[in-house]
Amino acid sequence: MKDLVSIRDVEKRWATSIFKLADELDSKPAPRKLAGKVLSTLFFEPSTRTRLSFHTAAARLGISLLDIESVGDSSIVKGESLVDTIKIVDGYADCIVIRHPLEGSARLAADLAQHPVINAGDGGNQHPTQTLIDLYTMNRLKKKISGLHVSLVGDLKYARTMHSLLYGLAMFGAEITLVSPKELQMEKAILEEVKEKFGTKVRISNEMNFRDCDVLYVCRIQKERFADPYEAVRLQQEFRITLESLKGAKDDLIILHPLPKVDEIAPEVDRSEKVRYFEQARYGVPVRMAILSDVMG
Ligand code: NCD
Repeated sequence: MKDLVSIRDVEKRWATSIFKLADELDSKPAPRKLAGKVLSTLFFEPSTRTRLSFHTAAARLGISLLDIESVGDSSIVKGESLVDTIKIVDGYADCIVIRHPLEGSARLAADLAQHPVINAGDGGNQHPTQTLIDLYTMNRLKKKISGLHVSLVGDLKYARTMHSLLYGLAMFGAEITLVSPKELQMEKAILEEVKEKFGTKVRISNEMNFRDCDVLYVCRIQKERFADPYEAVRLQQEFRITLESLKGAKDDLIILHPLPKVDEIAPEVDRSEKVRYFEQARYGVPVRMAILSDVMG
């Protein structure tokens, strides 16, 4: 695999090999075969987990980092274009990880760069490495993905994590229910795509009922992508996971979230043993180590 821009670039066989390698890298010290290589992380949007886990993954593999600490410290404030920035960084680094608010920006970078480009989120479009972490976590905790009943809850319109994950789950044969306010439903084209490619029939619901659910995957309302921030706050309050909404759920239900969470999960839910999102965030390191090993190896 050269670039990882969209989950559509990923084949099930490749993803499965990444999960296997992540298991190995999580259980013993990593080989330092990539020592001397340079990874550039270009983040034009805020990030905690993605940036830091890429940094940790690189450090554990012996890869050196080239990071613009903040866009304000770079020539971008002088008006340098994204195109020029990519061309320059491509001349320095062996791989580029990019997060940018513009949909399609990672594809543009991949087309421009000679070296591999990994999409760490392009606007509301795609976040393929997060999806590999999500699928890895489900597979590790539930020992399978095929046949699992997964409910995706929250902002299905603007969240790139949800767009990538729906495709990944369909590829692995999960049963999927989408739960969101009417205003934040998943775009029809994505549903048609997974039906055509994988024969997946996705259930749509607006009820917070998780009785036959094995995995509850929640994301925050993507306030920064709303034209009206007050609308975001209103919708947030309608779709909130509380201990009450988990009544009747299976004992072995797991709750995942790409994080950050804001107010879509009540704080008392954090104490539930169903919550596995902090563990999921930790798996970001071995999964990203496996991705870097494959792409940069
Ligand atoms: C997500 C993102 O940036 O899309 N965060 C992450 O990478 N773990 C989720 C979000 O911001 O809601």
